[in-house]
Amino acid sequence: MSSTLRPGVLPVAVIVAAAIVATAVAPVPIAFGAGDVEAGRRKAGPCAACHGADGNSTNPAVPSLAGQPTFYTHWQLVLFRDGRRRDPQMSPFGANLTDADMADLAAYYAAQRPPRPSTASDADTSTAGQRLAQVHHCASCHASELAGPRYTPHLAGQSYAYLVKQLREFKAGTRGELDGATMTSAAQPLTEQEIEILARFYANLPVAPATPGGRP
Ligand code: HEC
Ligand code: HEC
Repeated sequence: MSSTLRPGVLPVAVIVAAAIVATAVAPVPIAFGAGDVEAGRRKAGPCAACHGADGNSTNPAVPSLAGQPTFYTHWQLVLFRDGRRRDPQMSPFGANLTDADMADLAAYYAAQRPPRPSTASDADTSTAGQRLAQVHHCASCHASELAGPRYTPHLAGQSYAYLVKQLREFKAGTRGELDGATMTSAAQPLTEQEIEILARFYANLPVAPATPGGRP
């Protein structure tokens, strides 16, 4: 950089180059156009067959979407459309969504009430699960509805079968994720038994009350 520059003033080329580098390192944009909840409700018709009315799934293989942060749902739909996340049932439904569809759907699901855990909590499993969640720092990102980056999903009340499958896939490196690294590395040290205990723990964890108007 030229020594004749005034302090605090960078040439445009430097700023642009810095922005490109920053984008390559952290490819997580922080803004989407705001979605329309009512438009999302109409567009969610075909989704209800699997994800349930209002995004509360009763099928253990299918995640609930109600109350998930807008960013998270939007980004997962981008990943499905791009083929970076794949599932034989879900992929066809993500393939043709426009950016506006994704924003509307994400806004709609964020505004719905999240599910209640379907199984009663088992005290022993809860203690073991809580300990593992601390040891592996899961709680630093997934602890409460306001913790972690805004593209971090809430796990409480998701089905055991779904959570086990996702953790196995992160560990195997076969589940695409937004930054390609966070969960894939978080899952590496987990044994199969730990995956099952953690999945049971989060499946049984009481769901935080929904934020009025949905979460960002
Ligand atoms: C035929 C059943 C089916 C339909 C219809 C369907 N999905 Fe899915 N969806 C799934 C399954 C199964 C998964 C979990 C895939 C996996 O195991 O990774 C999923 C995952 C998702 C996820 C990721 C959730 C998370 O917690 O990571 C989102 C978001 C989603 N679907 C949105 C939608 C939307 C929006 C529609 C309608 C446009 C839709 N789905 C239609 C079956 C379906
Ligand atoms: C540094 C933050 C961070 C840590 C630590 C972390 N996670 Fe995650 N987790 C994320 C993010 C971000 C995602 C969404 C990834 C993506 O883009 O698909 C995620 C996704 C998940 C999912 C998929 C949820 C869904 O709806 O599909 C599960 C399950 C999960 N994490 C469990 C765990 C467990 C168990 C631990 C501890 C072993 C853990 N996470 C540690 C940030 C974290």
